[in-house]
Amino acid sequence: MSLLIRNGRVVTAVDDYHADIFVEDETVSLIGRDLDVEADRTIDAAGRLVIPGGVDPHTHMDMPFGGTTSADDFETGTRAAAFGGTTTIVDFAIQTKGHSTLEGLETWHEKAAGKAGIDYGFHMIVTDMEDDRLWEMRRLADEGVTSYKMFMAYPGVLYVDDGTLFRAMRKAGEDGTLVCMHAENGIVIDEIVKIALAEGKTAPKYHALTRPTRMEAEGVHRSIAIAEVAGVPVYIVHLSCADALEQVTLARDRGAQVFAETCPQYLFLDLSHYDHEDFEGAKYVMTPPLREKWNQEHLWRGLGFGDLQSISTDHCPFCFKDQKVLGIDDFSKIPNGGPGVENRMSLVYNGGVVGGRLSVNKFVELTSTAASKLFGLFPKKGTIAVGSDADIVVFNPDRRETISVNNPCTHHMNVDYNAYEGTEVQGVSEIVISRGRVVVEDNIWHGRAGGGNFIKRGLFGGPF
Ligand code: URP
Ligand code: ZN
Ligand code: ZN
Repeated sequence: MSLLIRNGRVVTAVDDYHADIFVEDETVSLIGRDLDVEADRTIDAAGRLVIPGGVDPHTHMDMPFGGTTSADDFETGTRAAAFGGTTTIVDFAIQTKGHSTLEGLETWHEKAAGKAGIDYGFHMIVTDMEDDRLWEMRRLADEGVTSYKMFMAYPGVLYVDDGTLFRAMRKAGEDGTLVCMHAENGIVIDEIVKIALAEGKTAPKYHALTRPTRMEAEGVHRSIAIAEVAGVPVYIVHLSCADALEQVTLARDRGAQVFAETCPQYLFLDLSHYDHEDFEGAKYVMTPPLREKWNQEHLWRGLGFGDLQSISTDHCPFCFKDQKVLGIDDFSKIPNGGPGVENRMSLVYNGGVVGGRLSVNKFVELTSTAASKLFGLFPKKGTIAVGSDADIVVFNPDRRETISVNNPCTHHMNVDYNAYEGTEVQGVSEIVISRGRVVVEDNIWHGRAGGGNFIKRGLFGGPF
C-alpha cells in the first residue's frame, strides 16, 4: 500500500517547506518537490499544513479511579484522539499496591490490545516499591515502559511517601529512565479538605479552593530536590500555575534535569468555571484544579521560553450525569479528571499560533516532537522524515469549528459533556494517517479497533 501526499506545506518542529511525501506501507519513504512516483492513493494537500501526528503523553483510558472508571476505554479514547489529530498516546498503567508492576503492565496490555485504534505506549504508576521489587523497574524498561509516574497527592490511594519516591527515583536514574511526578502536597491538602467539609463547604468549587497553588509549588520543589539527589531526570505532569512554574524555572536555571508539561485546561479554562450555583462545576473537578486566569499568560510564557516542553491532555473523562454525581453532597468524592484528548491540537493551534503566542514550528514541537523525544519515541514518532512512521495529519489552518457535543456534533469522546463546549477554534485536523493508513477523513472514522500497536519506547535520551 502506498500513499502520496502532494502540494502540502510540511511543518515539523524545525522545518517549513512545500513538498510531496511518499509513504510506502507504514513509513515515509521519500520527500521532495513534484515527486515522480505512482501511488495507490494520492491526497491533494494544497492549502493545508502537513504535520506529524500529535503525541499525547498523558492519558488515562479505562482507569479505575474515584470509585468508578474513566469513561473512555482504549477503543473510544484512541478513536477520539485520532479525530483530533493525535496518533500516539502514552497512557498510565497502574501497579496495584502490594502487587507486581509487571502484573499492572499485563492488565493494561489486556485493556488496550484489540481496542486501540492508534499506537500507544505505557508509563507505569508506581504505588509502592520495596527494595526486593526494584529489579522490576529494569524489566519494565526492557518491555518498553521507560517512564514511571508517582503521586505526592491522593493519600491512601496513589500517594507514595518521600522514601518510596527516592528509592524508585534512584533506580530509575541507574536504568536511564524518566520519572513523571504528580507534584502536590496531598497530605496538607487533605487536612484543608477536612476543615472545609467540617465547615459544610461541599460544593465543587471547594475542590479548587482546598488545593492552593503553594501546595503544588511545594510538591514541584520537593520532587525536583529529591530527583536531583537521586540522580534522575524528572518530568512534572499537568503543571497548572505560575507558582509551580517558578520552581521549574529556578531548577532549570541551576542546571537540574527538569522537564514539565501543561495541559489545555490550564491554558484555556480558569477558576471561574466553578462559579455555578448548581453542580455544573463538577465538570471541571480535576487535579490540580483550574486556577485564576492570570496564571495562563505565565504558562504561555513558559511554553514560549522552553521551561515547559510539552502540552498533554491528562485525558481522564467521567460522565457528568452518572459519574461526577458521586460527589453531589461532597466535592471530595467527585471523580477527579476531565476530557480533552480530542481537542488538544485545535485548541493549541488556535490559542497559540492564531493567537500569536507560538510559531507553527513550536506548535508541532509542543504537541508532538518534544514528547516523542522525552519519552523515547523519536524519530519513529514526532516528525516527518524518511524512515519515520507515517503518522501524518493534513491540517487545515483556516477552517473554523465550534467545539460541541451536539450543536452540530464535533465530539467523539465517550463522555456526556465537552469542557470546551461552544469554543470556536481555527485550525482543524482533516485527514489523519496512522502508520500509512487513513484513519480519519471527512469526519468519518476509517480506522479499526486493534489497528494501533503497542510501542516499546527507548530510554531517556538526555536533554535536547
Ligand atoms: O484529575 C486528574 N488529573 N485525574 C487523573 C489522575 C491524575 O492525577 O493525573
Ligand atoms: Zn496526576
Ligand atoms: Zn493524569
